[in-house]
Amino acid sequence: MNNNLLTTATGTPVPDNQNIATAGKYGPALLQDFWFLEKMAHFDREVIPERRMHAKGSGAYGEFIVTHDISQYTKADIFSEIGKTTPMFVRFSTVAGERGAADAERDIRGFALKFYTQQGNWDLVGNNTPVFFLRDPMKFPDLNHAVKRDPRTNLRSADNNWDYWTLLPEALHQITINMTERGIPRSYRHMHGFGSHTYSFINAANERYWVKFHYRTQQGIESLTDAEATEIIGKDRESHQRDLYENIENGNYPEWQFFIQVMPEADAATYHINPFDLTKVWPHADYPLMPVGKFVLNRNPDNYFAEVEQAAFNPANIVPGIGFSPDKMLQGRLFSYGDAQRYRLGVNHAQIPVNAPRCPYHAFHRDGAMRVDGNYGSTKGYEPNSFNQWQEQPAYKEPPLAISGDAYAYDHRTDDDYYSQPGNLFRLLSNDSKEVLFANTARALGDAQAFIKIRHIRNCFRADAQYGEGVAGALGIDMQAVWQDAE
Ligand code: HEM
Repeated sequence: MNNNLLTTATGTPVPDNQNIATAGKYGPALLQDFWFLEKMAHFDREVIPERRMHAKGSGAYGEFIVTHDISQYTKADIFSEIGKTTPMFVRFSTVAGERGAADAERDIRGFALKFYTQQGNWDLVGNNTPVFFLRDPMKFPDLNHAVKRDPRTNLRSADNNWDYWTLLPEALHQITINMTERGIPRSYRHMHGFGSHTYSFINAANERYWVKFHYRTQQGIESLTDAEATEIIGKDRESHQRDLYENIENGNYPEWQFFIQVMPEADAATYHINPFDLTKVWPHADYPLMPVGKFVLNRNPDNYFAEVEQAAFNPANIVPGIGFSPDKMLQGRLFSYGDAQRYRLGVNHAQIPVNAPRCPYHAFHRDGAMRVDGNYGSTKGYEPNSFNQWQEQPAYKEPPLAISGDAYAYDHRTDDDYYSQPGNLFRLLSNDSKEVLFANTARALGDAQAFIKIRHIRNCFRADAQYGEGVAGALGIDMQAVWQDAE
């Protein structure tokens, strides 16, 4: 069969792909031109919903290699021996922009890893920052409504964005990071990545550790100034996609070293920072970075839609030896991703090749739209059954986790400190970097109303007086005006 010959989706030769059939040379179209109908109907359905956020992204395949033995902390097969290599797929993204947005925007970058391990897919769906704006998933939809377009003007709105951010003291750490020089990475290759949340490791003795994941760029951190980014966006909205694609295509494979921070389970109860608060880091002095391995990206996808647009990363995809934690944000995400993907891609999205496991699997689910794998044929679809089908695997059960306290919707803002860590970060910056932070913040606040700017200055001041004063100076606002009518 000659592969170049055009057929319909069901294999019938297409005799004419240039001219629609009409009644007479100048006449109306004929409904019987089934090829025209099929071609147009398929075209009409080519667009699928974009990701609610992280819509603009780039992906690549690679491999993860273990360089250090961490089997005392986890029994995960991926880490079972030095030298072990696991295939992976990575997707980078910006957060707020739509699918056609420019890459070089000031924004967090998504940094999602999918490891095709021999015990199932492990998705580590992280960002290029170690913390996040929020620590309660109830506020996540609001965050997105605030940073995306205004419902009336359809414009991105500094007013909405900063009104929301500044009302949440826990957001200051993430905002500070975004407004520093690192807020616009030069490319996806030039940034670190973080799992951000606290996850758990379970070892062969069924002991639990809390763990954070860090991936450090071997290309070096490089960033863009606001002015450089404006210049680039004027010429090239796809600067990150182009950089990643071309470097991989030219054999200049980007690499990251993979580290963990490990906390024994019992430490969580006494550590002075809530280890499950996503707005805070664990200082390295308390929990040092431990090297684990490295990953390299060495192959571009052949088809963007099939492999990148249809990729589905889900923090709920874990493997034996890796588990969740009480982090409320992580708990909220465990629902949201699979739910979004069932809507965006369909209930059988795990069958799409980029999402399918590369180990044997036997998953019980039946039917549903776009089931294409034979649907387990005549195998019984219920359990228990008398035919040894669908046997659960109790050996993989996690150890129990002690929980205490009353069920309640706890207000974490009344009893926690959200200013020390952004203050510490600020104090670590050089004087030049502080000036850049002030100027970036002032530009990003743009045309936001004065009371919103003042609220941000107050938040910065609470982290460090010099931070508040610097932002006020960059905005041309007098400190006396800042504290007038202070709450
Ligand atoms: C994408 C929800 C917080 C990183 C998404 C998507 C949803 C979502 C629905 C689109 C999924 C899809 O259509 O495939 C949430 C919720 C959060 C949350 C409800 C908090 C409660 C976070 C945090 C991080 C993160 C804290 C990083 C630490 C990402 C990344 C993507 C993404 C990297 C894009 C994944 C890809 O490349 O396909 N998020 N998110 N999100 N989120 Fe979140």
